[in-house]
Amino acid sequence: MPFRNDSLNWGVMAKAFHWSVATLIFVQLALGWLSVAWPLTPTKLYLFIWHKSLGIVILLLVVMRLIWRLFNPRPQFPVTMPRWERVAAETVHGLLYAVLIILPISGWFLNSAAGVPFRVFGWMRLPALLAPSRPLTGIMIGIHILLGWVLISLLVIHILAVVRHHWLKRDVTLKRMLPFVRIPENSQHV
Ligand code: HEM
Ligand code: HEM
Repeated sequence: MPFRNDSLNWGVMAKAFHWSVATLIFVQLALGWLSVAWPLTPTKLYLFIWHKSLGIVILLLVVMRLIWRLFNPRPQFPVTMPRWERVAAETVHGLLYAVLIILPISGWFLNSAAGVPFRVFGWMRLPALLAPSRPLTGIMIGIHILLGWVLISLLVIHILAVVRHHWLKRDVTLKRMLPFVRIPENSQHV
């Protein structure tokens, strides 16, 4: 299984980045809601430590993923895909990347404004990005929650598009993103 993408297939690295971030994002959303809703017990503190730490891991993974992508162009879209669908796909993917960067950074700003000292997994201290401020904390919480909903909306569109490609248009879009699946060179590339 080649590491790099080619014109037909996603490489091992792109697939590993895609599915690790996809899995972590679902865990992260659940942790976000759980940590806010949990009653004030030591467990709430641990949930928050996990939420913030995982958020920083996701940020690092997405930055690494984008750097990898810079040197590794995506495979071509299936030949059956009209122009508007290609533009829609590029737009949603671009917005997903943007939110995946801005959302954890907004959490980092929020944590700094709240003046909460924090170590990633209890180990590496995360420097504060701004001085503690009550009004800013409120604003940053609002932005963090709003971005969370933007991410969820983009994911709904993304997953519906995948369902449409795989079950209605029956093209290779989903198949070639699955681990251990390779589309043969001589295929029709549909
Ligand atoms: C059940 C969940 C998911 C499925 C089935 C799925 C499937 C796919 C497929 C098939 C592609 C390739 C699209 C193409 O060839 O044009 C793709 C690309 C992509 N997916 Fe997902 N995905 C899922 C969840 C997620 C999640 C949770 C995220 C982000 C949080 C995400 C972010 C992306 C991005 C950014 C791309 C574009 C890759 C690139 O061009 O660099 N996906 N996804
Ligand atoms: C991709 C990364 C992230 C996602 C998807 C995410 C998502 C969420 C969600 C869904 C909530 C619950 C909001 C609510 O309904 O009240 C939340 C809350 C929170 N997140 Fe994140 N988060 C991310 C990264 C981070 C990071 C990196 C930090 C800090 C370093 C952070 C700090 C917080 C804090 C402090 C809250 C509680 C806000 C409140 O008091 O209402 N998050 N996050």
